[in-house]
Amino acid sequence: MLSVWEAIEKRRSIRQFTPDEVPDEMIEQLLEAARLAPSAGNRQPWSFLVVKDMEVRKELRRICWNQPLIEQAPVVIVCFGDLDRYFNVSRSANKYLKYYGSSPPSPVQQKITFSMANAFIAIEHMVLMATALGLGTCWVGGFDDATEFQTLFNLADNLVPVAVLPVGYPAGEIPPPRPRRELDDILLKPGADSPEN
Ligand SMILES: Cc1cc2nc3c(=O)[nH]c(=O)nc-3n(C[C@H](O)[C@H](O)[C@H](O)COP(=O)(O)O)c2cc1C
Repeated sequence: MLSVWEAIEKRRSIRQFTPDEVPDEMIEQLLEAARLAPSAGNRQPWSFLVVKDMEVRKELRRICWNQPLIEQAPVVIVCFGDLDRYFNVSRSANKYLKYYGSSPPSPVQQKITFSMANAFIAIEHMVLMATALGLGTCWVGGFDDATEFQTLFNLADNLVPVAVLPVGYPAGEIPPPRPRRELDDILLKPGADSPEN
């Protein structure tokens, strides 16, 4: 298995998969990596659905802007932020209002933002674990309507879809790294970047 650093460096968004089945133990390991992710107040506001059925994958493809990788991957993990799990144990949403200036998001928007931010961490754990196991994945956030997922899977509306993760063995060449900003470009230098200078 790859080290954390190797997985970070080798990970690419994989959009083509072989038809080979992914062993259940590997899927379990991905979910275990998600389960161990950190979260604010340890609320763990996430839930996952593992989809293998071809008809359901076709339907997910339709919901996800008709992106073919969803149907092609043998396994698709649908990742949800869980609003109830985030806020039922929260003291109050009001403590966050100060960060939003004069037009704060509505309480519902806040719930969604924070539960999704937490779920993102668990999802990236799965992505890196998949890379370490020799599997390919690609974050898919290209969908519009949360209710389509809720209808498809008969879910309550506290579950907000955050990302869809196709998983399989990469087909063809592994893509070269996509460009990234240089460190100098993302590392702020206090003082040097202030408007006075
Ligand atoms: C939140 C999020 C949503 C994304 N949604 C899509 C998507 O809908 N379809 C897709 O093909 N790639 C999607 N991507 C993958 C990005 O295009 C990709 O990460 C980026 O171009 C950098 O390439 P790399 O992942 O190979 O380093 C998404 C990535 C993230 C983090």
